[in-house]
Amino acid sequence: MNSNSLVSISDVNKEEILRLLEQARYFEENPNHKILDGKVVATLFFEPSTRTRLSFETAVNRLGGRVIGFSDASTTSSSKGETLKDTIKMVSNYVDLIIMRHYLEGAARYASEVTDTPVINAGDGANQHPTQTMLDLYSIYKTQGTLENLTITMVGDLKYGRTVHSLLMAMRYFNPTFRFVACKELQMPAEYKDFCDKNGIAYSEHTDFSADVINSSDIIYMTRVQRERFTDIMEYEKVKDLYTLHNAMLDGSRDNLRILHPLPRVNEIDYDVDDNPKAYYFQQAQNGLYARQAIICKALGIDIK
Ligand code: CP
Repeated sequence: MNSNSLVSISDVNKEEILRLLEQARYFEENPNHKILDGKVVATLFFEPSTRTRLSFETAVNRLGGRVIGFSDASTTSSSKGETLKDTIKMVSNYVDLIIMRHYLEGAARYASEVTDTPVINAGDGANQHPTQTMLDLYSIYKTQGTLENLTITMVGDLKYGRTVHSLLMAMRYFNPTFRFVACKELQMPAEYKDFCDKNGIAYSEHTDFSADVINSSDIIYMTRVQRERFTDIMEYEKVKDLYTLHNAMLDGSRDNLRILHPLPRVNEIDYDVDDNPKAYYFQQAQNGLYARQAIICKALGIDIK
């Protein structure tokens, strides 16, 4: 295993997180710094993606490296029965870095254990999405001027939403207060509430997305109900539209409130929110480019300054 791999957000400590945020700021100001000359990066996406794959590939291109990979595993020899282990070992022969998304929880960890090439987890099932977390942290820092002492309300699919799991873990360094708004079927899993308890993180659980909750939040983090994680489509139909944010619901909210969403959205944020200055989800996705440039450099052991 390569120690530069980023599989879980717990692979980076507070100092490393702050350094990555500093470097993301650098890349926002200098997006075309060509420091990956001669490097080849693989993007292996066993599960669909728009933002993560394209922002990673843009990041490599802007840094002057080359990209190989696939966005549809059915076109690869995994459809003939090749194992993930063999795929990773093969691709390792060709590239300097592997960026991988997989539908199975733990797949990225497993991949990192069968190769000496660094592996970046671009999402594994309902488990982790650490690079999304870095762009979320960067977005929170840019909009709030700090990561410390913020009230963050997470809404929607807290059971299967890997982005909220990673973000919750990363925030442990910054004394957050969490509100978890979800129906009983999609509540934050016990392991993450235990994590809060062990790390002295305050949280409360709500089934009502009330004005009180909205008006006392610094960040509202909306999430999509993850249809692809349900085995019973009827269960999905029951819960898919329970929480939708409308513009009028923001009337009494704090001036500093920003609305985040990892995207894609389905029905969680009404289009009437998009023109509200508190809507930040499209800028958040743009921040992903800079955060991922920083993450790629760290994984390749390249220090920019
Ligand atoms: N936020 C995110 O992971 O988006 P994609 O699924 O489009 O990559």
